[in-house]
Amino acid sequence: MTRGRIELGDITQHNIKQLKRLNQVVFPVTYNDKFYKDVLEVGELAKLAYYNDIVIGAVCCRIDTSENQRRLYIMTLGCLAPYRRLGIGTVMLHHVLKICEDDGNFDNVFLHVQVNNDSAIKFYEKFGFEIAEEKKNYYKRIEPADAYVLQKSFREPKARSPGEVLETNTKTVAESSEINDCEATSPS
Ligand code: ACO
Repeated sequence: MTRGRIELGDITQHNIKQLKRLNQVVFPVTYNDKFYKDVLEVGELAKLAYYNDIVIGAVCCRIDTSENQRRLYIMTLGCLAPYRRLGIGTVMLHHVLKICEDDGNFDNVFLHVQVNNDSAIKFYEKFGFEIAEEKKNYYKRIEPADAYVLQKSFREPKARSPGEVLETNTKTVAESSEINDCEATSPS
């Protein structure tokens, strides 16, 4: 495919169905109504990607305050299979990294990815993300159920007392089950 024009656009109540349809095709999980309600509230943290005016990708993030840090969480980032390796993922990720840079107050940006998703892992590694953790049985209804946490740090984590670490670890477990509260369809 010849290189075309890549643009990002806002997600609104008028095109949110396009986001839903896209996510159904690109990801092996179905995101619930709360996901889409929240996406309409996050402004620049969620964008549709257009290739020559056609919706072919999307990125959705939210701010996360687990582990005693201010973090940007990439919930979904993907594009339709025929449009991969054209730089669309790069445009979406650059958008996310620029938000972090402009804000200047994020400790890191992170995401979960299925352990067998080699293309996504290679993609994120190209931009300085590293495997921070492996979470066994993170996904409820897809195989493999295990996930890597990929993370790109902007600064060293703040020093914490042992009591604080224990408290934030408990919170992380609770939050991760909330993040993954979605229906599986078929594995990609
Ligand atoms: N194999 C090896 N390296 C890859 C691959 C691959 N399949 N895909 C991307 N890369 C690397 C390459 O270094 C590439 O540069 P190059 O093409 O010049 O060699 C670089 O990443 C940038 O590639 P882009 O063209 O910008 O990436 P693309 O638009 O294809 O998007 C993405 C990558 C988002 C991972 C895409 O494959 C996709 O949509 N996959 C399905 C959805 C998905 O798995 N998303 C991530 C799940 S985790 C999450 O959403 C939070």
